[in-house]
Amino acid sequence: MEFNLFEKREKPLIEAALIKYLDNGTYRDGTLSQAMRYSLTAGGKRIRPLLLLATVQSLGGDVTKSYEIATALEYIHTYSLVHDDLPAMDNDVLRRGKPTNHKVYGEDIAILAGDGLLTQAFEIASVGSLPDAKKVALILALAKAAGPMGMVAGQTEDIEGENQKLSLGLLKAVHEKKTGELLKFSIYAGGLIADVSPTVNRLLDEFAAHFGLAFQILDDIMDVIGDSTELGKKTGMDATLNKSTYPALLSLEGAKKALENELNHARKNLVQIEDHYKKTDSKFDSQLLSEMLDLLQLQ
Ligand code: IPE
Ligand code: IPE
Ligand code: MG
Ligand code: MG
Ligand code: MG
Repeated sequence: MEFNLFEKREKPLIEAALIKYLDNGTYRDGTLSQAMRYSLTAGGKRIRPLLLLATVQSLGGDVTKSYEIATALEYIHTYSLVHDDLPAMDNDVLRRGKPTNHKVYGEDIAILAGDGLLTQAFEIASVGSLPDAKKVALILALAKAAGPMGMVAGQTEDIEGENQKLSLGLLKAVHEKKTGELLKFSIYAGGLIADVSPTVNRLLDEFAAHFGLAFQILDDIMDVIGDSTELGKKTGMDATLNKSTYPALLSLEGAKKALENELNHARKNLVQIEDHYKKTDSKFDSQLLSEMLDLLQLQ
């Protein structure tokens, strides 16, 4: 299936699910709910839920049972952005083309809106029609990916790494945690919902690791050469904050090569998965994941 068609079909369903659970929240009419809604509906590419659903679809799984976990994931990602933008962290004023949450609602409410999104994510992940055993496995994996062994650890190391020149190995580890873990979860969740074998799970995990790292290398590159209006966030912030990034450590050209290298590895992983499926009766359509990978290619 073509990614364009898939996105056209799935994005409105993702948007509807994001709102549905917001509307079901307890504090529907209060400031907290408004602040949560503001960041959730500000736009955003919805790459993580799309990647999760695309993985399920590619492996012949049931996409209709996957919206709750995909929604939970986007709630967590959105919380991470609200907190990432706070003055105590990256001190950003523009996100998803709009003033950052704390600029509109104040730091206190922005912190609480983030807390609300993070906590409600696990409520959303707990409902839906997947078997309970799968839900528990997904909730465990999501907590690990987002928590103090995953994204939160990466965010901590990113902040502590300011004004220092990290080694490339250390920076790679930061990127794998702060950004890679949630993207890896998208693909892991897709595989789990579609009941993949341990071998396919391992191959998907390798693909996901390269996808995740490529995503943050591209983000680093776009902070240098991207267009603020197109990105919906300010550029040049990494240099302002003296962060270690791929372009800072390797130069722009080196960062582009590193991105290409990750994308090539990921493409090889997709071929390996295809080859594996050729030997079995079940089907794998790599087009969606392959086209999502192409989105990370610099023109
Ligand atoms: C931005 O994520 C933060 C990173 C992890 C690089 P996205 O680029 O997915 O941001 P949105 O969701 O489209 O706004
Ligand atoms: C963010 O990395 C990773 C998160 C977990 C939010 P960045 O700080 O580089 O993301 P942007 O550039 O602000 O979107
Ligand atoms: Mg940051
Ligand atoms: Mg930031
Ligand atoms: Mg960035």
